[in-house]
Amino acid sequence: MPPDPSLVARLSQAGQEHLLRWWNDLDDRSRDRLAAEVETIDLAEVDALFRQLVKEDSAPSAGRVGPVEVDRLPRTDGERVARRHVAAVGEKALAAGEVAVVIVAGGSGTRLGFDGPKGTYPIAPVSAASLFQIHAEKVVALSRRHGRMIPLYIMTSPENYGVTARFFEEHGNFGLAHVRFFVQGQMPAVDRESGKILLAEKGRVALSPDGHGGTLYALASPGKSPVGSCLEEMRELGVRTLFYFQVDNPMVKIADPAFLGLHRQADAEMSFKVIEKMAPDEKLGVVVRVDGKPQVIEYSDLPAELAELREPDGGLQLWAGSIAVHALERSFVERLVRGDSRLPFHRAIKKVAFVDDNGEVARPDTPNAVKFERFIFDALPMAERFALVETDRTVEFEPLKNATGPDSPATVRQRMSDRFADWLEAAGAKVERRSDGSVPFGIEISPLYALDAAELKAKLPPGLVVEGPLHLK
Ligand code: UD1
Repeated sequence: MPPDPSLVARLSQAGQEHLLRWWNDLDDRSRDRLAAEVETIDLAEVDALFRQLVKEDSAPSAGRVGPVEVDRLPRTDGERVARRHVAAVGEKALAAGEVAVVIVAGGSGTRLGFDGPKGTYPIAPVSAASLFQIHAEKVVALSRRHGRMIPLYIMTSPENYGVTARFFEEHGNFGLAHVRFFVQGQMPAVDRESGKILLAEKGRVALSPDGHGGTLYALASPGKSPVGSCLEEMRELGVRTLFYFQVDNPMVKIADPAFLGLHRQADAEMSFKVIEKMAPDEKLGVVVRVDGKPQVIEYSDLPAELAELREPDGGLQLWAGSIAVHALERSFVERLVRGDSRLPFHRAIKKVAFVDDNGEVARPDTPNAVKFERFIFDALPMAERFALVETDRTVEFEPLKNATGPDSPATVRQRMSDRFADWLEAAGAKVERRSDGSVPFGIEISPLYALDAAELKAKLPPGLVVEGPLHLK
């Protein structure tokens, strides 16, 4: 059967008729799937993005970029007391059931080289619990502490949805009272020279996740759920604030009351946790002002001459690295998904396998394609009010990104063990350390045993000496 004439017309008008080139080789199922895939693509948008993003350079010039004001880490007793007071505001919001937790887990984890969703990676230093288990148990423990159910929402890509949902099911949802998975959108990859959409197979468009900016739109989409979109469900549940973070950081202080409190105190629509960048080329997006407006510049877009700017005291001028932990007002997300000011797309030049002129799948050695992604941090300039809160990297940032070297399983496990050793020592235990301060074995404290140092102190038997692997659960 020939393709639907309206499909042919749409594609040829957009100069993308090659997508049907192998139609005659396909069986009926593959034809239906291809037609359905093409249907989901906004061809005019892809064309416009290719023209805007591939042909133009968007890096801001030095004179337009400056630092932005941040709530710095408390340094005096008075500041520490103030943080504790503001934490009470966040605790109240948690106890009132006004906070939902959102994890973005739709990335493909290429750099880690792990076959499966990154959240299922066995990362814990002793028990090998997965990232998902650690996050889920924190949510369970928080719900218990605040006497209120805290709903958890997990964004996956279409590709890793099934595996992720099954993983939770197999583990009894880790004891969560409410967990819901939602699926992000996709965008086609195009040839970097011609702008032609690539085919991954003869009957399959080369589609990939549309970036974590897609979270906002996916939260608003009803998907196949009979209870409506996640946003609608949150409204029903009385949720006002979303605590958002990336699946790759097991040290994240989920729904940190002080952060939520500062967010509320500023009456912010969106807030960020930031850390001081260690070096100009550290791979963190930086929060800055561009022409006076707050904005994040992704590390790959930050020109070296800006990254290297120094203050008179030697510190980096653009120091505020985003750890991709946010508080977002539900009403703000609703406004963004309704409104005209949609998040912009960024381009990524990547190697993408494609069907060549001979109908064979070619695997290029050099980047041949452009992918389009939205980033959630681009919502910042659209927020009427915001809060930027500094945190300590040793306390809550050690992401799992690479197979070896920095941000790898080895560094993450070491940092987790070191951090748990700090808690143990603060609770009166003696822990063996190497001369550089690191712990020579795995230490792990389940969130269900203690969520923080204070809780541990209340539970720990006196006189504990730790000379080998320890797992408190
Ligand atoms: C990201 C941030 C960077 C920040 C750093 C902190 C971006 C573009 N950059 O860098 O500013 O300083 O983390 O660790 O985000 N994801 C999806 N869907 C997608 C793409 C990604 O859910 O379509 C999720 C991934 O599962 C992951 C997270 O977003 O949890 C980060 O994505 P990644 O592309 O790895 O960003 P980084 O380069 O690590």
